[in-house]
Amino acid sequence: MSTRTPIVAGNWKMNKTSAEGAETCTALRALVEGVDGVEIAVCPPYTALQAAADALKGSNIDVLAQAVHEKESGAHTGEISAAMIVATGAAGTLVGHSERRAAGETDDQVAARVRAALDGGLRVIMCCGESLEQRDAGETMDWLTGQVTAGLAQVDPSEQDRIAVAYEPIWAIGTGRTATPEQAQEACAHVRSVAAERFDGAALRVLYGGSVSPDNAAELMSQPDVDGALVGGASLEAEKFAAIVRGAVGA
Ligand code: PGA
Repeated sequence: MSTRTPIVAGNWKMNKTSAEGAETCTALRALVEGVDGVEIAVCPPYTALQAAADALKGSNIDVLAQAVHEKESGAHTGEISAAMIVATGAAGTLVGHSERRAAGETDDQVAARVRAALDGGLRVIMCCGESLEQRDAGETMDWLTGQVTAGLAQVDPSEQDRIAVAYEPIWAIGTGRTATPEQAQEACAHVRSVAAERFDGAALRVLYGGSVSPDNAAELMSQPDVDGALVGGASLEAEKFAAIVRGAVGA
């Protein structure tokens, strides 16, 4: 039995205004009050970070951004720095989500953004995952080795309590086609073994993401190397997300 505290994070993607986000947070806060043994987070769009952080102040739910830029300031139209995220009251950020990688974010940028987030005082969930073509070609584990090695290249082992990795197969994101518990376990164990070359593998949290729902969450998260979930669509409704949170602790 792992002693790692699971993380359940809800990635809202490009959904919810600040008012809608605050409403969801207020509902979620009441639903998961007193649930412990799990770290809970929501990842609103930038424009709702402040409202979410205000609505969740003093609760057991953290606020994370969905991305961060590697520079501290300057001519980077449309981008947001770590300091700006911290100033909203958010505690961390996702980095390297596949939807951002698909829009051009490179391994080097992911590494630099992880670094910038940590330097700015944020916690990080670094995302990785293979396409269906890569899985069918038997390239999944090699691909994950590359993404994890590159993404964590600038992280010092002393910082590992502020970083987690989310394994999210691209073919399972938003498709309703969840990885089987065996596939999630195999990939998360592989991510852990790759990270263990530089970090304390036994302590690193590795999450699964991709069509996680109240129906499949508990079984996925009961796998020995799956330390929680990164949830997209099912995190938009407070009731559904709370059910997934409860699935992480058998509550
Ligand atoms: P999904 O998204 O749960 O809607 O599949 C997961 C993610 O992209 O983080």
